Amino acid sequence: MQTNTAVLTNTNYYIALEEKYGAHNYHPLPVVLSRGEGVFVWDVEGKKYYDFLSGYSAINQGHCHPAIIEAFVEQAHKLTLTSRAFYNDQLGPFEKYITGLFHYDKVLTMNSGVEAVETAIKLCRRWAYRVKKVQENEAVIIVCKNNFHGRTTTVISFSNDESSRNDFGPYTPGFHMIEYNNLQALEEVLLLPNVAGFLVEPIQGEAGVVVPDDGYLSKAFDLCKKANVLFMADEIQTGLCRTGKMLACDHEDVHPDILILGKALSGGTMPVSAVLANNEIMLTIKPGDHGSTYGGNPLACKVAMVSLQVLLDENMAENAEAMGNLFRNELEKINSPYLKTIRGKGLLNAIEINHHNSNAAWEFCLRLKDSGLIAKPTHGDKIRFAPPLIITEEQLKECINIIIESLPVLDTIK
Ligand SMILES: Cc1ncc(COP(=O)(O)O)c(C=O)c1O
Repeated sequence: MQTNTAVLTNTNYYIALEEKYGAHNYHPLPVVLSRGEGVFVWDVEGKKYYDFLSGYSAINQGHCHPAIIEAFVEQAHKLTLTSRAFYNDQLGPFEKYITGLFHYDKVLTMNSGVEAVETAIKLCRRWAYRVKKVQENEAVIIVCKNNFHGRTTTVISFSNDESSRNDFGPYTPGFHMIEYNNLQALEEVLLLPNVAGFLVEPIQGEAGVVVPDDGYLSKAFDLCKKANVLFMADEIQTGLCRTGKMLACDHEDVHPDILILGKALSGGTMPVSAVLANNEIMLTIKPGDHGSTYGGNPLACKVAMVSLQVLLDENMAENAEAMGNLFRNELEKINSPYLKTIRGKGLLNAIEINHHNSNAAWEFCLRLKDSGLIAKPTHGDKIRFAPPLIITEEQLKECINIIIESLPVLDTIK
């Protein structure tokens, strides 16, 4: 019995289970987590870590935020799912709340982020045919190189990431890719016939936290307006205070025609996503045209409302801004041949590791893990640093020390 308990709490045991019984569609850091609270997580061996990934920015409010969990549990005891075949007493209040907060006429709730992106694409196409009068089945949506908007067949159809795309064809047509952060490319492509929308990440998160030039978003928005093309912002990763404002678009006073939210909309408790737009766009979808069994379920709505309120009540945008500045300032002071770039906004940051060994960023993350901080490389040499937005100055300084003290491991990598 004792032996069994020992085996069951062993990191390798859980890793072996996933290896044997799970699809191999991820390459996780070798740490098995079993508990989270605020900025911290604990592994099955009892070791404590700072979480510098925050579920890819889904846990902006911190792990198991007490107000969110309380709302979750309370609602879970009352009513969790009705489907949209019936009304429920949480959806309407949530819709009123979120549309008021973001200044849109209407919202459409879904579950995962990619479903919200799919919804935005469908809305954009509907608007193009029914309002703009684009030629039937010819609508074009402009997207950016190195985008990441999720994993469905349509969404990977307009990705240029080979591992996301290869051997998943045939691909959905109707997308035109341009360089990110290139206004001239946008201006030129807007001259093409049948352009319906421009889908953009205000900062490209998955690509390695690529921050466009100041003014890019507002100028791109103006160009879209001039061409009668919908500006669609995928704020699934950048939104909800992550970059130091409620939305990353707020940095440039841009109010997207279609706003896409997900991840931290539920504080990391369950998949909740939302698409916001005004009536001219949203009302092109009629009953029966689009939906989801779980979309708009009462549990999600209750949790999402509290998750948004917590961001406001605890001034998380302001803290993200202040802590982000501190983080980048301190990292910029480090004199290391291995730190190529430090970039980001608010608490969405990344470093680029400059090392002849392509595995160096991974090895560095293993060292960080041993020192009590977990982060994950993206695209080989980039490491995203995105802690929960509740991190304090003292905690952040401790994390900066962990990063500095871990750098010498890069000397030892051949
Ligand atoms: C910008 C962006 N869009 C869409 C998605 C997809 O969200 P989900 O994984 O919830 O489908 C992500 C996920 O990382 C994202 O970062």
